Formats: sequence, C-alpha cells, structure tokens
Amino acid sequence: MCGIVGYVGWRNATEVLLEGLQNLEYRGYDSSGIAVHLNTGNFFHARAEGKLANLLPKIQHRRPLGFTGIGHTRWATHGKPSERNAHPHAKEGVYVVHNGIIENYAALKEELISRDIAFHSETDTEVFAALLQEAVGEGLSCQHALERTLAQIKGSYAFVVLFNQEPEHLWVARSGSPLIIGIGKEENLVASDIPALLPYTKQMLMLDDGEYAALTHHTLEVWNAAGEIVSPDAVQSRIKTIPWTVSMAQKGGYKHFMLKEIFEQPEALDQTLLGKVDSDSRHLYLEEMEECLRIPFRDVAILACGTSYHAGMVGKYYIERLSKVPASIEYASEFRYRTPLMHQESLYLGISQSGETIDTLYALKSAKEAGAVTATICNVLDASIPRMVDYTLYTRAGPEIGVASTKAFTTQLELLLLMAVKLGSNCGHLDADAAIAILDAVRHLPALIETSLAKYPEIRQLSEHYLQSPDFFYMSRGPLYPIALEGALKLKEISYIHAEGYAAGELKHGTIALIEDNTPVIAILSQEDVYREKMISNIEEIQARGAHV
Ligand code: M6R
Repeated sequence: MCGIVGYVGWRNATEVLLEGLQNLEYRGYDSSGIAVHLNTGNFFHARAEGKLANLLPKIQHRRPLGFTGIGHTRWATHGKPSERNAHPHAKEGVYVVHNGIIENYAALKEELISRDIAFHSETDTEVFAALLQEAVGEGLSCQHALERTLAQIKGSYAFVVLFNQEPEHLWVARSGSPLIIGIGKEENLVASDIPALLPYTKQMLMLDDGEYAALTHHTLEVWNAAGEIVSPDAVQSRIKTIPWTVSMAQKGGYKHFMLKEIFEQPEALDQTLLGKVDSDSRHLYLEEMEECLRIPFRDVAILACGTSYHAGMVGKYYIERLSKVPASIEYASEFRYRTPLMHQESLYLGISQSGETIDTLYALKSAKEAGAVTATICNVLDASIPRMVDYTLYTRAGPEIGVASTKAFTTQLELLLLMAVKLGSNCGHLDADAAIAILDAVRHLPALIETSLAKYPEIRQLSEHYLQSPDFFYMSRGPLYPIALEGALKLKEISYIHAEGYAAGELKHGTIALIEDNTPVIAILSQEDVYREKMISNIEEIQARGAHV
C-alpha cells in the first residue's frame, strides 16, 4: 500500500512530511516525493526512485520552507517504479498524491489526450490531476473541481490535493483506501496510516467512504458522499483519541518491528483480555459482543483474508466444538465476487487487523445489505470495517507496524475462543465448569507464550541451520492445521522461501512425492490424543522419505 502524508500548520511542512514518510516506510515502497507550498509563493516539488535516502539530497540543499505540503511513498501499480511515475503528480498548479487504483483511467486518459493534454507518466494518478486541472481551468472552484472529478472516476482511492489557487488548503477524499485526518493545535494533518500522525496528535478522524474534506491550519470541513456538508457537531463527535503512543510504534531496541511485535504477544494478549475475565475465571464479559452473541443465529459465517483468514479457520473449530452452532469460513476475496447465498438468520463475522481490507469490508457490506447481522474482530479503533458493521470486538494488540501479522493473529485467536465460550454458554452447550477451565487456561496464555519466546536463541540457531533449504513444509491436524498454513504464509512472506502448509492426513494423497532427503518439515503436535497419535504416524511416513522433522 502506498503511504500518504499531508500537512497544513505552523511547522515547516517539509520536515513534517519527511518524518511522516519515514514513519510509513515499514509498508515498503519503491519511490517517494513531496510537494510544498513555499513561503515565497512558489511550489517545491521533488521525487526520487528508491529509498527516501535518494529523495533527501534533492531536498536538503534547497531547504524548502513552507507551511502546507503533501508527501507520498509509492508501491507501483500502474507504471514501473521510476522518478516520473513517483507522486506527487503535478499538472499546472495542481499537486496530487494517491493511494488506490482508478479503474477507468485508460478511457479518461484517451479523452484527455484527444483534447491535447500531454502526460509525463504512466500512472492513473496523473489522469486525476489532469482532470482537476481542466476543471479549475474552466473556472470551477477547487471544491467543485474536486467534486466533478471524483464523479468521473471509478475505483478505490485516497487522495490529497494541493491547489495553486488555495495554497493554505489541503483537499482530501477517500473511497476504499484508508485516510485519517489528525487534528492538532493550529495545525492539521492527514495520512494513510496512524503512525505518521502520532508525533503530532492523537485526535483523529477517519473519513468515511465517499467523503471529502478541506483542511486549513485551524479548520476542518467534511462533505458526505452526496456532496452535503457534514455539520461541525457531527464532525466533532467523530473525532477519536487514539490510545497509541509514539514509542508503541517505535522499534524499542529490537532489530526490526516484526521481532518486537512477536515479543509483544504476552502483553497484547493481556491487554485484549483486560476487563473481560475476572480473577476466578467465572465471568466473561465481551463488551459490545454480549448483545450480539445472545441472538440465536442459525450459523456463523466467517470472512477474512490472509492471516486473519487463518485465525477464522481456527475460530470455526472453536465455535462448532464449544457451541455446536455451525460455522463456516471463506476468503472475503472469493465471497465478494461469487453470488453467495446469504441468510438473514446468520451472523457474518469479519476478522481484520487493519479494519481496512477492502475485500473483507465489501463482503461484510453485502451481508449487511442482505439484511444479516454483521460483526468484526478488529485491531484498529474506528477503522472502516468496525464503523460499517453492527458489532465490534477490538483486539488490543497495539499498532502492528511489521506488516507481517503476528501479535494481531494471536489476539484474534484469543477473542475467537472467548466468543466461542460465550456462544457455547449462551446456547447451553458449554457447562460452567468447562467454561471456567477454558478461561483459566486463557488467563495463563501470556506466561506460556513467554516460555516459548525464551526459546528464541534455539529457534534462531535452527533457522540458520535450514537457511539454504529451498522448500519447507508445515503440517498439522485439527485446530492446529490453520497454524501450519499460517507458518507457511509467514515463511514465504518474510524470507521469500517456498513453503506449504498441509493437513497432515492429506500429504499422502499426492504431495508427499515432493518430500525427499533433507526436506525440512515442521510438524505441529496437539496434546489431544485423537490428533497426536495420527500426527505421529504421519511423521513416521515422511521420515521414511528422508524428511527432517
Ligand atoms: O488487516 P487484515 O487482517 O484484514 O489483513 C489481511 C491480510 O492482508 C493480512 O492478514 C496479511 O495476510 C498479513 N499481513 C500477513 O502477515
């Protein structure tokens, strides 16, 4: 995902933008750039391919001073990584940064070219800038130019626009891509992600899909998707205090964010449990989800993507086993594009760390439109998904900067188990003693995780031993099978080594042919006899083919 930052206030915008872009670097990017309205009245515009370090020399020798500006880190979608494809894109006094994809950009570009508009990049964003410029050129105000241009495009977007004729304003708009406004003292900011705003303010407003807004150093005006102004009181009531600190978003002595977040799991689990289970494990209180889980649903349909999908797979085991309520799990990206049968008596539960995954958002939206009850387990306060669904239960994992989901995943599992206990108790399928035993075990999880984390030096040594292996297998059964899938996903995502997660009983139906001398296989064993014994015989099978287990 691209990173966006915008600033208007009393500080030097260049410095705020650079710090913001640095705070968004964790998402990865291939080029970057800034545009600043200078005190001299001119604009400063610089872009560079590659790391921010390549942009700095272009800025430092000019020392641009100005109080309004926009910045961007780009992940190429349309057009390869290069300086000319980097944002901000400029068209005669209009500067734009964009995250998302304009689906009809090719047709719009053709029309613009037929009107003799020249293009300097291969991006969809430059088309948006050209449309804005054309509208302003026809005499439209910045607001009306933005409104008209937004109506012309299809796709997902978060835009921040700086117009020559209103250099003390930032114009912002979103649909489908996240955009957060930070409200400061005599300064306002906007960013694609919370960490870029945290050094300046904790007061934040998440724009809704279809909304656009204008920010100056001391005003914030918001218009809804119908183009009507949102009343100042309504805007004020939507401003939330984000309970994250800057240090929570920093590396805190760890080599990288992912390692830090792995080690934060005990605390994240503790925080998520806070106020939900009492000290004798007799009472479980699930905040907003209490009401939801009293509804007698015919089934629970879980929707999610990636790591959150794996958590949902475990959730299906928990729910069916503890409550006997049928549960299903589907990739939101599949559900969204087929024509699923939806039932108003079903609960549609979306799982998302960010609360912004577009497939999960739209899958849940379609369930809501079909008249069903929707709920989410989410980590980011007031993100798009929690704002859209009927019920939300928040994981309190803190900011997950590492992109590879770690502590968010374990806290999702924790909440899914608690939800299953609640549902089981409400349905009368789980007796009080069994519920107490589970809640007791959940309370001890952080300490158990500490024990596992203490094995880090051994794990590190093992990883060095297997570093050169081109393929890995992870296998397990039952509720640990999704953990095998998650292990393989993590290895692929982080080390770029091929890995497959398998249901251990399925290996023999073909894939075992790939297991040869020295293939590393990570087998995850359960304490439950039914799975443990079967796993041991699966391990023997693959050891016979030379696997290192
Ligand atoms: O924010 P979400 O949980 O909705 O994100 C879904 C996936 O993109 C995400 O879980 C992804 O698979 C992880 N970052 C992988 O570590």
